[in-house]
Amino acid sequence: MEVREFFNAAYGATERYWWRKQRRYSADPADHSASLITQVVLRHVRGLPPGRALDLGSGEGTDAIRMALLGWEVDAVEISDVGAKKIERFAYEAGARVTVHHTDALAFDSAGGYDLVVCNGLLHYVAAKEQLIARMQEMTAPGGCHAVSSWSTFTPVPPGHQVVPTFPDDEDGAITRAYRGWDKLLHYYERNRLEIAHEDMEPHAHSHIKMVALKPARPSRGARRPAA
Ligand SMILES: C[S@@+](CC[C@H](N)C(=O)[O-])C[C@H]1O[C@@H](n2cnc3c(N)ncnc32)[C@H](O)[C@@H]1O
Repeated sequence: MEVREFFNAAYGATERYWWRKQRRYSADPADHSASLITQVVLRHVRGLPPGRALDLGSGEGTDAIRMALLGWEVDAVEISDVGAKKIERFAYEAGARVTVHHTDALAFDSAGGYDLVVCNGLLHYVAAKEQLIARMQEMTAPGGCHAVSSWSTFTPVPPGHQVVPTFPDDEDGAITRAYRGWDKLLHYYERNRLEIAHEDMEPHAHSHIKMVALKPARPSRGARRPAA
């Protein structure tokens, strides 16, 4: 089965597949005890003026809508047409403005300049993760923040998820390598976390790589280049 079909069925079967708890759009880190990444991102953006954000593999749009409600200009990219329509509807219902792109993240084209790129749960569905991360990094402004969560190979992909091709990453694999040289606000290997929220699957466990990192700012004028 293709990932698009899998998520079309999941998103069509229930009003909310992800982020089922109330206060999903809250900007208070204390409301996100189940998501380390969200806590770290909210603490980071709290001191910043609203900028431009990109949410890749946006699902039903919760991260995108939360940032839009904080005043950010947000692009959300989602391959599932059911998901893309839900992002539009949920954004409208929440009074948020999000630009939704119904496309493959690898095909998404933008001039870039993003101050925040969220990639929450997408990379384990992408074989060409080096290519996608490189593109995400190119599209990011100096000092911009990336929030990445992906399955690691620490535990096998649970049987229920093996109906679509998946590409988890080693803990010291492509994701960790791609962010060498970035300033890490979070670099965490979450191992064997139990997932019980989805009625369409038996309880199962995942292992994740969780990363929140800042792109190095441009070297200041006159700064000396490191020796080759
Ligand atoms: C695990 S879900 C996470 C959804 C959302 N980021 C969240 O945290 O609520 C992964 C999402 O990525 C989307 N996706 C998978 N492959 C994609 C691709 N190549 N391009 C864009 N979206 C993709 C899926 O349709 C799904 O909505």
